[in-house]
Amino acid sequence: MKQTCLVTGATGFIGRHLLASLTREGHPVLALLRQPQQLPTLQTQVTALGGAGERVSALVGDLGVAGLGLSAVDRARAQAVAAVFHLGAHFAWRLPLQQARTVNVEGALQVADLAAAADARLLMVGGFMLHNPAHLQRLGVNLPQPASSDWPRVYRRSGGYEGSKIEAHFTVQRRMRELQGRLTCVHPATLCGHSHSGHLLPGQPLAGLIDNLAHGRLSAIPGSPQHWLPLVCVDFLAELLRLAAFDPALEGGELLALDDRTPNLAGLVAWLAQALQTSAPRRHLPIGLLHTLLKLPGLPTLLHTEPESLDFIQTQRFDTQDTQAFAARHGLAWPDLESAVRASARYLFPHRALGM
Ligand SMILES: NC(=O)c1ccc[n+]([C@@H]2O[C@H](COP(=O)([O-])OP(=O)(O)OC[C@H]3O[C@@H](n4cnc5c(N)ncnc54)[C@H](OP(=O)(O)O)[C@@H]3O)[C@@H](O)[C@H]2O)c1
Repeated sequence: MKQTCLVTGATGFIGRHLLASLTREGHPVLALLRQPQQLPTLQTQVTALGGAGERVSALVGDLGVAGLGLSAVDRARAQAVAAVFHLGAHFAWRLPLQQARTVNVEGALQVADLAAAADARLLMVGGFMLHNPAHLQRLGVNLPQPASSDWPRVYRRSGGYEGSKIEAHFTVQRRMRELQGRLTCVHPATLCGHSHSGHLLPGQPLAGLIDNLAHGRLSAIPGSPQHWLPLVCVDFLAELLRLAAFDPALEGGELLALDDRTPNLAGLVAWLAQALQTSAPRRHLPIGLLHTLLKLPGLPTLLHTEPESLDFIQTQRFDTQDTQAFAARHGLAWPDLESAVRASARYLFPHRALGM
């Protein structure tokens, strides 16, 4: 049986943990890297996360380049893989439409073509907002016929990053149907750090919230007591991705990777504040008002908050029964989220956590 996996976005936060999970289970991994000189560092990081870094090798490529920039030799190596995990994405707020589309949509389509040509399962990582139809409709996505959506208008409403993630999801689904390829989609909530070590990278959205709180910049809770920021632990997600890619029952299926024991935003901030030995704000600031304030020039920088990031804070609840059943079937335990959240804060601010 083929065991080798190809991973895009391998150097990213989720990618490193996925590589640790895959290599720990004996899978050789081909990591699509823009800069192959990153390989030794990546191997060391994967081993430090409990994987086997020596099982990782590099495919030199770029999602933003025609043919993924793969050499003929590397393209032939990619033909031998059992599964392709597509995690690579250009993540930034205020991303221009064309830049977002080139990497996140056209790049994803090229990865889909590669997976279909290799008859490999494509494990496509989307985002939890794809399981919120009311939100998608508000953005202008034509759900019965996504291809006929006015995508530039969707991008204007959502921002380049989120718009491109949504377009990529529907466009890749369509392409895989046309190619009769094998596709599984997993939609993660916002990432919490590792459930034991708290490992979390500074660029992650939750790290931004922790940073604002630690520096006394969070004077009010965005939204109402009904608002929440759904989370999932990175180690749980990595295991879920690995298991989903090799589960025959999930071919053609989707999973929402979201821990519905995440408290409301006030509760989450309270956990973080305790871990950081600081006080949590009590007042709420309506999301609409915050959006208006953030339109004022300079305020996003001053408040260290981007308007696009507010979309992920919402009142919508999600049905996670399929994910619960999947995890139970594979004996995958949900980590204790409260201790993972506290560990994430301590990981980023170890001195604060010690009261120093
Ligand atoms: N983090 C979250 O809270 C969250 C939540 C839901 C969904 N997701 C999705 O999960 C996936 C991984 O997220 P993450 O947070 O782990 O990402 P990340 O830490 O921002 O890493 C992004 C990865 O994409 C790679 N990449 C960017 N542009 C590329 C290009 N042109 N060609 C090849 N590779 C490129 C980066 O490689 P370099 O090292 O070369 O820069 C890096 O490995 C993304 O699809 C994201 O949308 C994330």
